[in-house]
Amino acid sequence: MQAAALYRTSIGKKAVMAVTGLIWIGYVVMHMYGNLKAFQGPVYFNEYAEGLRELGAPVFGHLHLLTIARIVLLVSIVLHVWSAWSLYQQARYARPFGYAERKVVQANYASLTMRLGGAVILLFVIYHLMHLTWGIPFVHPDFVRGDPYHNLVTGFQFVPAAIVYIIAVIALGFHLYHGTWSMFQTLGLSRRRYEQFEQPIRALSWLLAILVPAGFASVPIAVLLGIIR
Ligand code: HEM
Repeated sequence: MQAAALYRTSIGKKAVMAVTGLIWIGYVVMHMYGNLKAFQGPVYFNEYAEGLRELGAPVFGHLHLLTIARIVLLVSIVLHVWSAWSLYQQARYARPFGYAERKVVQANYASLTMRLGGAVILLFVIYHLMHLTWGIPFVHPDFVRGDPYHNLVTGFQFVPAAIVYIIAVIALGFHLYHGTWSMFQTLGLSRRRYEQFEQPIRALSWLLAILVPAGFASVPIAVLLGIIR
């Protein structure tokens, strides 16, 4: 089957969601780990942020690998949201009038929180880019280009911003839990092998859902407590 024809099927869309989700899982794990360098002070953190621009050197030139990574992330998030949206439309089209009696079975609950959580995360990423990457004055009035440590600390000293980040990473935790779980099912776990792998996959989903938000949230919390300043 051609790629475009496969994409039109719901399994094709789920596969696109799984692969693009995996790319983002890799990114958030590395990003969270990188952010922990904020605990080591401004020099270390800013060198790290600057070092990202030289990623892949000497094979890749200044900003090259970072630009490729940005394109891959952007394409992935667009495809991920697009597939989610069209799977949702397909499900609605298949059942246009809803259930006569609405039962909140587990699958419904999970897909509702995935859609809501996904929308929260998407809005957060846009806000986050305006806040710490682009430094839009309305969003971050104290932004200094080329000083990510300063931007991070002054950004989180504004309590509402820190709270937005903490809520967003908790939503990310829920999304990661169910997303990791679904991804493994889509990417080839047959019913027969399912039981054998259920426990390790659940454990991995839990691990991601706890470690990633905890690592991310530790930075704004540390700024609020004056540990990072
Ligand atoms: C407390 C949590 C977070 C902190 C402290 C944080 C910090 C940062 C900082 C300082 C930058 C700018 C780096 C620079 O331009 O030098 C950045 C960029 C970025 N962050 Fe976060 N981040 C957090 C959570 C997240 C989450 C949860 C996501 C995704 C779901 C995310 C996605 C991104 C993206 C896509 C960029 C742009 C990367 C680039 O184009 O270079 N961040 N983050």
